[in-house]
Amino acid sequence: MYPGSFDPPTNGHLDLMERGAKIFEELVVAILRNSEKSPMFSVAERLEMLRALTGDLKNVRIDTFDGLMVEYAKSLGATCILRGIRAISDYEYELQMALMNRKLEPTLETVFMMPADKYSYVSSRLVREVAQAGGPVKGLVPAIVEQKLREKLDPAYALRDARMIEVLGKRDLDRKEKKRKKKP
Ligand code: PNS
Repeated sequence: MYPGSFDPPTNGHLDLMERGAKIFEELVVAILRNSEKSPMFSVAERLEMLRALTGDLKNVRIDTFDGLMVEYAKSLGATCILRGIRAISDYEYELQMALMNRKLEPTLETVFMMPADKYSYVSSRLVREVAQAGGPVKGLVPAIVEQKLREKLDPAYALRDARMIEVLGKRDLDRKEKKRKKKP
């Protein structure tokens, strides 16, 4: 089980999921629902993004959880908790969390993996900060997430896309109707 906030999912998260999917039989990416922080993306939005991003990883599935992570892990029958460590600065918090989780559920092991070094400075918090200040996040997050960030921060984008789909959809229907009429 790979738990986290994923607000939003980054290329670092995706890199870790790909690595995790290679060494575990099954990987459940679990989004925390009751986070105290006020999230940028709703749980439903994060679920949708993560499902789209991991569609081709057959042994990865996305879910959400509430309350204690170890309880949810137990309910899944998970044997390991996967967490990413980018730099020494992550280690202290991750160590504390791993030891607390071990105290709560001694049979669960925490496994740490390192994402590719090119993502070692990428975090959801910094991505949000850069995007909110109008900076580029290309290469830090998958293209789907980049688009969602754009829509979230500039609602005009979402509107433009919706109108485009409406226009293109109508054009397609008109074409089909013309073809149908041409048939004897
Ligand atoms: O992506 P994050 O925000 O670093 O993930 C943190 C997360 C969700 C893994 C952690 O906050 C968590 O597991 N919360 C659930 C509540 C819980 O079990 N807390 C005790 C952990 S020691």
